[in-house]
Amino acid sequence: MSQSRSRPLPNDQDASGRMLGCEEQEAVLAALASGTLTSTKGSFVKQFEEAFAQQLGVAHAFACTSGTAAVHVALAALNFNPGGEVVTTSITDMGALTPMLALGLIPVFADVDPHTLNVTADRIRSAVSPRTCAILVTHLFGDPCEMEPILDLAEELNLPVIEDSCQAFGARYQDRLVGTFGRVGCFSLQQGKHITTGEGGIVVTDDAQLARRLFLHINKAWGYGDANPDHYFLALNYRMNELTGAVALAQLGKLKRSVEQRMERAQQLHQALADVPGLGLPMPLPGHHHSYWRYCLDVDEQEIPGGTNALADWLRDRGIACAPRYIQKPAFCCEVFQKQRTFGESRYPFTLAHADAVDYAEEKFVGTYEALNRVLVLPWNECLSAEDVEYIADAIQAGVKHLREES
Ligand SMILES: Cc1ncc(COP(=O)(O)O)c(C=O)c1O
Repeated sequence: MSQSRSRPLPNDQDASGRMLGCEEQEAVLAALASGTLTSTKGSFVKQFEEAFAQQLGVAHAFACTSGTAAVHVALAALNFNPGGEVVTTSITDMGALTPMLALGLIPVFADVDPHTLNVTADRIRSAVSPRTCAILVTHLFGDPCEMEPILDLAEELNLPVIEDSCQAFGARYQDRLVGTFGRVGCFSLQQGKHITTGEGGIVVTDDAQLARRLFLHINKAWGYGDANPDHYFLALNYRMNELTGAVALAQLGKLKRSVEQRMERAQQLHQALADVPGLGLPMPLPGHHHSYWRYCLDVDEQEIPGGTNALADWLRDRGIACAPRYIQKPAFCCEVFQKQRTFGESRYPFTLAHADAVDYAEEKFVGTYEALNRVLVLPWNECLSAEDVEYIADAIQAGVKHLREES
């Protein structure tokens, strides 16, 4: 196959890979024309929140400025004491972790299943201690975690579950949308997500008391609408503005299509690659509806010489901007954890942590290292055509053949 292609693959970092069109343009112009750009007075963010809650089937949804803000607000609303440990995953975005440190909480990393790259109930159990105050799971790449045993464990230990669904709009577990299982669900509207406003986030809950605290944590804890409003506690301003809310509302109307397109193209790629030796495909487990934020291959280096890096080089030479090893290293290998760089020279809140909680010994994370060594993340978005996927499939098949023959 030829190395060049007349049309580059659609890219979610620009218009080619995003469903941004006249609906968003009209909505932004309407927000601008209204002259009201703050959501405390305008109607776009409120409409978006109501529509999102309805689509997800939850009682309350609040927009905020990013997925990181959503996680921050979720944890803040649960009001833990500093030093509390949050058991979470070693393969995730830093935006799911730094809010913990900002709140004086200690992320404690559970290992992941090397095949799904998600945490599991057993692995979470191994990371729990008497100081654990919450479990935060990430539905990585759009593939739901195995929620039933995780919820059973949380109930047994009386711990709240927070679902990081930033990569998992439209994903379902046992026919229920992710983000609706935990006490709080968090979503991101960042540039590359299923729907986007460039930056943005959403928190959801069914719990009315928690909803009140989520709202306050987005609004400097100012009691809007109360008889005697005050700033009731420490909280920041994480409000989404009306221009963003207008785009979010228009994008929400396209979410179903975005998810369907991604799933349909994923099916096509599953079929095309089914017989390629040495490649594991992201086929969902029974009861899982993967919404394919990304399509990840599991590359067996024994079968495909050079493994994920060699195959990635081959694909990049053919215009397929893939990412071997996803985040490259487990989250706890980043400097913020290794050097405990937080507030000035204080190292707070690591100074509150038990030694076990910050012991990142490699042998505790066998699944994590195995997963990162094998994973190859393909670019995926709702604008890929059947022909684009055929091109990607042909390139992968040719790459595997070449690497096997060359060795
Ligand atoms: C799993 C996960 N959690 C949290 C975040 C943070 O979201 P944001 O970038 O919108 O702050 C992201 C992504 O960007 C993510 O992928």
